[in-house]
Amino acid sequence: MLQELRPRQIVAELDKYIIAQEEAKRAVAVALRNRYRRSRLDPEVREEIMPKNILMIGPTGVGKTEIARRLAKLVNAPMVKVEATKFTEVGYVGRDVDAMIRELVETAIRMAKTERMAAVEDKAQELAEVRLLDLLAPLPKKRGAAPNPFGLLFGLRENGGQEMEDTDSDAFTELKLRREQLRQRLSSREMEDELVEIEVEDNSAPMLEVFSGAGVEEMGINLQEVLGSMLPKRIKKRRVTVAAGRRLLAQEEAQKLIDMDEVVTEGIERAEQLGIVFIDEIDKIAGRESSSGPDVSREGVQRDILPIVEGSTVMTKYGPVTTDHMLFIAAGAFHVAKPSDLIPELQGRFPIRVELKSLTEEDFRRILTQPQNAIIKQYTALLETESIKVEFTDDAIDEVAKTATYVNQEMENIGARRLHTILEKVLEDISFTAGENGPQKVMIDADYVKHQLEDIVRNRDLSQYIL
Ligand SMILES: Nc1ncnc2c1ncn2[C@@H]1O[C@H](COP(=O)(O)OP(=O)(O)OP(=O)(O)O)[C@@H](O)[C@H]1O
Ligand SMILES: [Mg+2]
Repeated sequence: MLQELRPRQIVAELDKYIIAQEEAKRAVAVALRNRYRRSRLDPEVREEIMPKNILMIGPTGVGKTEIARRLAKLVNAPMVKVEATKFTEVGYVGRDVDAMIRELVETAIRMAKTERMAAVEDKAQELAEVRLLDLLAPLPKKRGAAPNPFGLLFGLRENGGQEMEDTDSDAFTELKLRREQLRQRLSSREMEDELVEIEVEDNSAPMLEVFSGAGVEEMGINLQEVLGSMLPKRIKKRRVTVAAGRRLLAQEEAQKLIDMDEVVTEGIERAEQLGIVFIDEIDKIAGRESSSGPDVSREGVQRDILPIVEGSTVMTKYGPVTTDHMLFIAAGAFHVAKPSDLIPELQGRFPIRVELKSLTEEDFRRILTQPQNAIIKQYTALLETESIKVEFTDDAIDEVAKTATYVNQEMENIGARRLHTILEKVLEDISFTAGENGPQKVMIDADYVKHQLEDIVRNRDLSQYIL
């Protein structure tokens, strides 16, 4: 996968979702490719080459987070996003910056687990069906669910010697027949709505209030979890539909089929080699003067973040994780502070600087319609579920883009996010009445857009609240 993704292909993929911002797209594409290039070097050389981190500079709502998120998705890399300002809040202490790495590991492990669960899905479904069958038409007690330990030991379970005696009886033949019928009806999904009683593990946390010192939390150890896993699992009986039972049992079987140790190892490896840490609002911790009040000083936070970005080992509950090869993307508007206001060591760690530009009216027009998840497509799809076919004329799109640009200039520039608030307003009436009068075709043109927005746009006070 990674192998085929050359920078040009990566940019082409990002183009499907992100309009303009070519420079930023190129930078992340190269950073990603460099990881692959590095992975092909001899170990000695490889260790010497640290990944180059990226600093994205640009106003709000122009695609900084979106680019990072799409990139991560594209290569299936685990990613976390943190706000740098979080670490300046009262109550945080330096070591808490480790928490972002722990979160990344959790994310990576969750991804690995989901993939493995999907890989055993078919097998789990099969096993679940067998269990359903046993619940609906149990075999006689003797040979049923609770096997005689000696029987197990000597391999007597299914066709064990002493259990053969009644297999010729009429009752047994009948049962076998019934089971065969049920098996067929189950597999052809004829009885999904019928009820069945199943036993499931009760996963609701035992009532344990744990007050732990901050030190324990720092290690990422959840006492509740540790104690919970020491208590015996509680089994709960539930009456559910066959369909729901199938789902629950398949889940349980899948859990049994995957090896959690392997999942953890793979998750850690992925976090270390592919992980992306997105640090937002980095400009808010730039500046070297120490702020007054109880806040942790901004420089202090930079110094706390530094070792993680430089490469260090963080303890997690799954073991040590090194941050040496993770990709860090920092982002900020840098309206007041400049990148040069960051401490020199941190500046050096983010050598790739890219500037994202304010979006133009033309960009807005394209953002509305072109991306694979374009806003207009989203709203059209939503309304289609009510049999309303909405169509936007070109001049309606122009009008929305124009209004967004205008409101951004007059009020506050919130970038592409403005498109959402405006479109919401444009479609307010239609969204409200949709479905009331059966299927409909609605054409939205410039006049309609103007009509919906006119009063608000003209009234400054009102638009501050509504748009
Ligand atoms: N260039 C773009 N192309 C397509 N959609 C965009 C673009 N820029 C922003 N958007 C849309 O606007 C929304 C906000 O963008 P994003 O989260 O990337 O903002 P940001 O640059 O990270 O801003 P902030 O500094 O506030 O975090 C996203 O949901 C995205 O869909
Ligand atoms: Mg953002």
